[in-house]
Amino acid sequence: MDNDVISGSRRLLTPALVFHTGIVAVKAEGLYVEDASGKRYMDFTSGLATSNLGHCPPEVVAAAKAQLENLIHSGCIFHYRSEVDLAERLARITPEGIEMFFFSNSGAEAVEGAIKLARHSTGRQGIIAFTGAFHGRTLGALSLTSSSSRYRKNCHPLLPSVFHAPYPYCYRCPMGQKSGECSLECFGFLEKMLRHQISAEEVACAVIEPVLGEGGYAVPPAEYLKRLEGLCRANGILLVADEVQTGFGRTGRWFACEHFGLTPDIIALGKAIASGFPLSAVGSTTKIMSGWPPGAHGTTFGGNPVSCAAACAAIDRTEKESILGNASDMGLYAVERLRAMQGKCASIGDVRGLGLMLGVEFVKKDGSPDREFLKKVMEGCLSRGLIVIECGPDKNVVRLMPPLTATKTEMERALDIFEEALG
Ligand SMILES: Cc1ncc(COP(=O)(O)O)c(C=O)c1O
Repeated sequence: MDNDVISGSRRLLTPALVFHTGIVAVKAEGLYVEDASGKRYMDFTSGLATSNLGHCPPEVVAAAKAQLENLIHSGCIFHYRSEVDLAERLARITPEGIEMFFFSNSGAEAVEGAIKLARHSTGRQGIIAFTGAFHGRTLGALSLTSSSSRYRKNCHPLLPSVFHAPYPYCYRCPMGQKSGECSLECFGFLEKMLRHQISAEEVACAVIEPVLGEGGYAVPPAEYLKRLEGLCRANGILLVADEVQTGFGRTGRWFACEHFGLTPDIIALGKAIASGFPLSAVGSTTKIMSGWPPGAHGTTFGGNPVSCAAACAAIDRTEKESILGNASDMGLYAVERLRAMQGKCASIGDVRGLGLMLGVEFVKKDGSPDREFLKKVMEGCLSRGLIVIECGPDKNVVRLMPPLTATKTEMERALDIFEEALG
């Protein structure tokens, strides 16, 4: 049966779509995914940082079922409660000032919306993005994405007037500096870009992931983000935080911006917003959003009533239980264990992350990326029932992103497996 699905997948689905494992899932609950033979795996990917409350959380399933029986679709023909209820909740939990929303379906669409909104609002065309960033694969978002040239291949020309500055990925400093001993030369590069390539008054927005996701799970220095915010404010550039991957508690706070005291003008949300139902959003201040004229943007499926009901239930549960606290605690526990492993395994170059957005970077003796070692570790994990995936331009960083509900016992078990696989 599994072979049928896999061969059908190969025959009927585009090879452009890359599946991370050969598992055919028939059922999933909490941390676990089960195949047809009944084999269970611990999913430390959370379906790509999306099932933050684990698979099929009961409150979310119940809310979606109730909504399904009453109204599945609106297509912007009717108003409906679940969309407004969700906007109210988002206004409460997103960074200060974010209080109006446009709902769409995917992270890439949210980024597209953010770019369009910033251009409309400022009347400017320039966009600052960051090398290593991932913002999605639609052509606008792809113009900002630069985690791998593979994604951009044969898609040129992309959006013009997008300028990439180096992301402060300190373990592999793009400016050749030593982490903690630099003068943020990467920020100096950005300032030079504004002197030589585009003047600040022509820039609509700077779009940044507050923690680099697909590009390597790198946590930037707070000082860099503060300076970026200052530069934006001083020049009328809108600061766009892409919290598609970092949002909804992944880093132990509702949004990663909170760790850095960052106040974005626009925020892009997706992935975990509705616990696995397709939904995304662009949020901004009332002032900026109100200036987007009727018809300037739109959608048929965005803000689907069922997805919105699921999102409300997911937010309510996260607020009611100590989910964010658990993510922080489990993250600290994992970092401690991973650092202990680093002490014993020379192939681990770096352990980093916030909350349950954790990266382990594998290196060779000379410090260069060791993708082969990582592949073996991932295979070793999978054969022992733990699913982990990689990231980074050299695919030598393993990302650990279990559900925020993971218990200490589950974390212990998964980290034991990881340690065995290292051996
Ligand atoms: C930070 C970030 N932005 C945008 C996207 C695109 O989201 P989607 O795949 O839902 O279009 C992703 C996906 O990984 C992401 O990590």
